[in-house]
Amino acid sequence: MTSIDNLLHEDRRFPPGPEFAAAAIAQPRLYEEAASDRLAFWADQSRRLLHWNEPFTEVLDWSAAPVAKWFGDGKLNVAYNCLDRHVLAGHGDRVAYHWEGEPGDARTVTYAELTSEVKKAANALAALGVGQGDRVAIYLPNIPEAVVAMLAVARLGAIHSVVFGGFSAESLRARIDDAQARLVITADGGWRKGKVFPLKPTVDAAVAGESPVEHVLVVRRGENEVEWTDKDLWWHDVVDAASNEHEAEAFEAENPLFILYTSGTTGKPKGILHTSGGYLTQVAFTHENVFDLHPETDVFWCTADVGWITGHSYAVYGPLANGATSVMYEGTPDTPHPGRWWELIEKYKVSIFYTAPTAIRSFMKLGGAIPAKFDLTSLRVLGSVGEPINPEAWVWYRDIIGGGKTPIVDTWWQTETGAIMVSALPGITTLKPGSAQVPVPGISIAIVDDDGTPVGKDEGGLLVITEPWPAMLRGIWGDMDRYAETYWSKFADQGYYFAGDGARYDRDGDIWLMGRVDDVMNVSGHRLSTAEIESALVGHAAVAEAAVVGAHDETTGQAVVAFVILRSEYAELEDASTELRAHVATAIGAIARPRELYVVAELPKTRSGKIMRRLLQDIAEGRDIGDTTTLADTSVMSIISDKYAASP
Ligand code: PRX
Repeated sequence: MTSIDNLLHEDRRFPPGPEFAAAAIAQPRLYEEAASDRLAFWADQSRRLLHWNEPFTEVLDWSAAPVAKWFGDGKLNVAYNCLDRHVLAGHGDRVAYHWEGEPGDARTVTYAELTSEVKKAANALAALGVGQGDRVAIYLPNIPEAVVAMLAVARLGAIHSVVFGGFSAESLRARIDDAQARLVITADGGWRKGKVFPLKPTVDAAVAGESPVEHVLVVRRGENEVEWTDKDLWWHDVVDAASNEHEAEAFEAENPLFILYTSGTTGKPKGILHTSGGYLTQVAFTHENVFDLHPETDVFWCTADVGWITGHSYAVYGPLANGATSVMYEGTPDTPHPGRWWELIEKYKVSIFYTAPTAIRSFMKLGGAIPAKFDLTSLRVLGSVGEPINPEAWVWYRDIIGGGKTPIVDTWWQTETGAIMVSALPGITTLKPGSAQVPVPGISIAIVDDDGTPVGKDEGGLLVITEPWPAMLRGIWGDMDRYAETYWSKFADQGYYFAGDGARYDRDGDIWLMGRVDDVMNVSGHRLSTAEIESALVGHAAVAEAAVVGAHDETTGQAVVAFVILRSEYAELEDASTELRAHVATAIGAIARPRELYVVAELPKTRSGKIMRRLLQDIAEGRDIGDTTTLADTSVMSIISDKYAASP
């Protein structure tokens, strides 16, 4: 495995520069404070970082494990914490977002303006009947209204469910129905790759017929033609007309804040539930300390779309809770030219930049001449998230983007953890390319063997979280049994949270992530489940059986490779690969479209009928096929591999 080679042979070390270390927000005593009394540490951080209308007296209640209550008897309003209090503290003129649309249109939104917009939107949503606990689906491009919508929902104590704009109507409908959302906020369309990408027709299809949705609120962005139904209202009609006075009510710390769907090991996405006080505490703390945020001077840019957890925590809630200035960009990195991101860094003097290894690797392929055309000297901290970053990409990122001087923080976390869990702190840690390194202060992580026994230095095993943490998920929406089963049953005796990732300690005891150990793939830092894509494939009339694997890919980390058996009446289906790959994109979304699809006569199965994906993965990654002795029919593999080898 390349990641083990990296771990064994990577001995480059990057200690923090003395000036950086001296001025850093996080100082070494943070680790000591957290270690001496973890709960007191989080209580102090929460009081320091947030405004509580009613102070909490209890830090953690774990009596109903695995559902935690953090700061349970306190009350706060998440939107007030992200907005009003900064304005009241005299920072109303500070820029919250430098937003840039793909075609080059730009908007500057100050904290005062954002607060006023959110108050109006909250009044408008309340007038449409949205109140505490109601679910609102948000299906928008990466535009300021997405942030306004999220915060307006939060301000009312309602629950948002943001669905990434690349998901299909079917995926959107499943999420709307699962959460029983009564309102959808969308746009006519948004800009992607030089064109308007329509969103409204997808929503129309997702709410047609029987649906819990009463209203669809439509932001005008793409200016594309849209069909109008009697559920539809223009955002600019109802929000612009609403009053900009709105008093934020304080809600309990455990009031749900959002649901975000993510792929698991079965076909049905899981609605990960997050709540208010603990979530906001940990995202604010990590945003401040992991990125060394100085809110008066830094310009922070997290490139993730708000539709993903990284967008929720580090494009919206963390930066706003900390009163930071962020850049937000609507479009793709290479439109209209391949230096677009670097141009934005130069234009807005971005000082902290947070992106995914897949993006770094694709820029690496294009070469250093493109970023060299731009002034990137404003950068002082770089971050990475979503998948393991290989040392070559890490060093390229530091040398070419960071001018050979910026620390890089590789941050490990998940939709479920809500906030960063494992990461270097840039003023403290001596950095190692390719390693996520150490748990964040106040977070308890271990690597254990299959029985839950901790492994030693230089050994590998499974990553677990051994103590509850403030931003932890509070469940799977509508399926608490699945919550307990998925995350807490494997190490029930020890009470550990099982993350689904393999990891190793190196000889210094630093953590290296080794990838998923379950049937979850990681494509461009996005989670996809093999079962979900298989179920989309067998949903096509031509497909009898399907098996999907994640194969190593130079740029995207992993890529989806599918093997299907056609029904006999479709045996002659022309261009089956193109048709079925397109079918997956329609059923789930373009991110799930297989890179390759092979029509085969048989799939490798054990005698009990279980598909042996490991063998298919060997083929897709060009390796010799492993042990086939447990197969019901051992000739199957040579037939498939001959076919694979013959493919273009
Ligand atoms: O496998 C790990 C990988 O991404 C998974 C979580 O995916 P998701 O919930 O979509 O959240 C992605 C952004 C937080 C993890 O189980 N992963 C995430 N960050 C890293 C990582 N793998 C290695 N190194 C990372 N820094």
